[in-house]
Amino acid sequence: MNNPLRVVLAGCGGISAEWLRAAAQMPDLAIVGLVDLRLAAAEARAVEFGLTAAQTGDDLVAMLAATQPDIVFNVTIPAAHLAVTLTALAQGCHVLCEKPLADSMDAARRTVAAAEDAGRLVAIIQNRRYQPQIRRLRRLIAAQQLGALTTLTSDFYLGPRFGGFRDEMQHVLLLDMAIHTFDMARFLIGADPVAVFCKEWNPAGSWYAHGASAIALFEMSDGSVYSYRGSWCAEGAPTSWESSWRIVGSSGSALWDGAEQLTAAAVSGPGGFFADTTDLIVPALADDDRIGGHAGLIAEFAACVRAGTTPETHVADNIKSLAMVFAAIESATTRRMVDVMW
Ligand SMILES: NC(=O)c1ccc[n+]([C@@H]2O[C@H](COP(=O)([O-])OP(=O)(O)OC[C@H]3O[C@@H](n4cnc5c(N)ncnc54)[C@H](O)[C@@H]3O)[C@@H](O)[C@H]2O)c1
Repeated sequence: MNNPLRVVLAGCGGISAEWLRAAAQMPDLAIVGLVDLRLAAAEARAVEFGLTAAQTGDDLVAMLAATQPDIVFNVTIPAAHLAVTLTALAQGCHVLCEKPLADSMDAARRTVAAAEDAGRLVAIIQNRRYQPQIRRLRRLIAAQQLGALTTLTSDFYLGPRFGGFRDEMQHVLLLDMAIHTFDMARFLIGADPVAVFCKEWNPAGSWYAHGASAIALFEMSDGSVYSYRGSWCAEGAPTSWESSWRIVGSSGSALWDGAEQLTAAAVSGPGGFFADTTDLIVPALADDDRIGGHAGLIAEFAACVRAGTTPETHVADNIKSLAMVFAAIESATTRRMVDVMW
């Protein structure tokens, strides 16, 4: 049995509890340090999770020097992701980072280049693609059970009141949440984004400073069209956090409510005005399907560090999802169709 991989977690805010809960179930990981600009936040997490052997601090460089970890969990706010990741790479650490990869494309490209130069893994938590139903839906699409994919739509309508950094964030829906949905679309289609037109606005009654609603239309590299509609200040009739999806292929359609409800039907005969259709059996989850949200991603990352393999959400791939976000923002700002570049 190897010694556990040593981990320092930076950023002990809201979502760090999810990381620490997951890590507590993994004997291959040892949390050796907790860092936050607010020392009290690091100390509180150490107490809450019984991490008596972990050091706490407010200085990442000093913590890395003192604890010599293998991995840094970057759970800081988006504006700090680049600096924390570069600091960790400079100390020879692998980095698993919260979404979004970075708060600009320039910062994202610098992250990808720095990971390559350092010869270390940097991957992003995209927990919403590590769910059982999206894996089953992906199998249905990949097996061409709907024919050739032509159209993908997703609706995201929720009204959460977070407080904190999101209240003042520019492009809050696109940058902080739509990254999940865009990444899910890319995963489902298995194609790259080409161009986007986006309308972004902050509706009357919004409790956010900027950009709580958006509608975006993407051209994808396989010729399909992905349309996104979303709001973070929609009261009533909530969708799931995974969005509500319709997938249309040349011979069938699938509906997924983003939770348990997943149905599909395809043409089975010529019919009359409408073709005859039959309900499809959506493929079952396979043993090698990657699921488990944060815990699934953290376990995969640790296994990749051990084996020298590449995680699914490696930054060199994940930057394409972030590019969808920034192209959508550029389109909304310029009111023009924008090529998606990374
Ligand atoms: N994957 C998901 O489902 C999910 C859910 C929520 C949040 N997130 C992401 O997780 C990240 C953190 O979100 P949160 O809700 O926990 O935010 P938060 O504001 O509750 O916590 C962030 C913490 O990071 C600390 N911090 C900021 N800069 C730092 C630095 N340079 N070094 C050390 N600590 C620093 C802050 O003091 C704060 O305690 C964001 O990128 C967010 O988008 C992801």
